Amino acid sequence: MTTPIRFDHRVAIVTGAGGGLGRTYAIELAARGAAVVVNDLGGSFDGKGSSTSMADKVVAEIRAAGGKAVASYDSVSTSAGGEAIVKTALDAYGRVDVLISNAGSLRNAPIDDLPDDTLDAMIDVHLKGGFNVSRPAFRQMKQQGYGRILLASSAAGMLGNHQQAAYGAAKAGLVGLMNILSLEGAEHGVKANALLPTAMSRMSAAMDEKLMQASGAVFASLGDKLGNTADPGFVTPLVVYLCSEACDSTHGIYSASLGRYARVFLSVGAGWIGPRSTPASVEDVAAHWAEVCGKQGAEEVGSLMGEFELIARRLKGA
Ligand code: NAI
Repeated sequence: MTTPIRFDHRVAIVTGAGGGLGRTYAIELAARGAAVVVNDLGGSFDGKGSSTSMADKVVAEIRAAGGKAVASYDSVSTSAGGEAIVKTALDAYGRVDVLISNAGSLRNAPIDDLPDDTLDAMIDVHLKGGFNVSRPAFRQMKQQGYGRILLASSAAGMLGNHQQAAYGAAKAGLVGLMNILSLEGAEHGVKANALLPTAMSRMSAAMDEKLMQASGAVFASLGDKLGNTADPGFVTPLVVYLCSEACDSTHGIYSASLGRYARVFLSVGAGWIGPRSTPASVEDVAAHWAEVCGKQGAEEVGSLMGEFELIARRLKGA
C-alpha cells in the first residue's frame, strides 16, 4: 500500500491562488491537512486592478470542505507585499513550510515593439515576485530547519516562445533564483525546485491566436488522446508531491504538461579542450565546432562548481 502524502501541521503559502493553477494547489494542499495562505491580488490576467474576491472565494471553498485557510491580498510585485504575505502565514499559523510562488500575469509583445511598462510589469510580478516572497519565506524556513519552495517558471522562458521576451526572460530568471535557493538551502533542510506547467487558464486563453493555432496543429491528429489533460488539475499532483516531505528533490526543473510529468535537464557537453598556454584562435574554434556542439559525453551539472569538476575530470582524462 502506498503511504498517503500528508501535510498535517504544515503551513503553505500559495501566491496567485485565487484562480487557475494556484487555486488547485491550495485546495489539494488543504485537503491533505495543510493550513494554507491563499494569496491573490485579484486583478485581471494582464495584471491590472485588484480585488479581495478571488482569494476570499478560494478560502471559503477550502473552509467549506473542512480545511484551514486564510486570505492574503498583497501583491508579490513589491518587497513589502512579499513580507506581508509571509507575515500573514506567521500571524495565523506560526510557521511556513511550503512556498509555491505561482502568482503572475501576462503581457505579450514582439521584442521590437516591447513597451517599457510591459517589461517592467513582467519583471516585477514574475522575477521580483519570486524574490519578494522567497526571501522572507527562506529566512523563516532556515530558522525552522525545514522548507519546500517551488517557483513557477515557464517553458516559454526555459525553451522559448514567440512574443514572450519579457515574460520568458523573467520566468527563466526564476530558474536562476531556484539554483541558488537550493544550494543555500541545502544545509538548512530547505529544498527548492522550478516548475514548467501547462494548463488552460484565463492566462493561457489570452495567448496570441497564431500561437494557439500552432499548438492546435501539433496535437490535431491525436484524437481524444489528450483527454482533459489541459485542465489545471493535471499539473497539481506533481506540484503537491514536490512540496511534500516525502520528496527529496532539490535543484530540479520539472515539466507538468498535458498529463505528462518529466524532469528537465541542463547538461554540458564534453566539448573541445583547447590549447593550454595560449588561447585558441577563432579559426581553431571554427575548426572544432562539431566537438564544441557535440552532445556526446554531455553531463548534467548541479552548480558552477560542478562544471569546474566536469572540466577537471576531462583534463585528467577520466
Ligand atoms: P492565472 O491568471 O489564472 O493565475 C495567476 C494568478 O496570479 C491570478 O489569480 C492573479 O490574480 C494572480 N496575480 C497576478 N498578479 C499578482 C500579484 N502581483 N500578486 C499576487 N497575485 C497576483 O494563470 P495560471 O495559468 O493559473 O498561471 C499560474 C502561474 O503559472 C503563473 O505564474 C504563470 O505564469 C505560470 N504558467 C502558466 C502556464 C499555463 O499554461 N497556464 C504556462 C507556464 C507558466
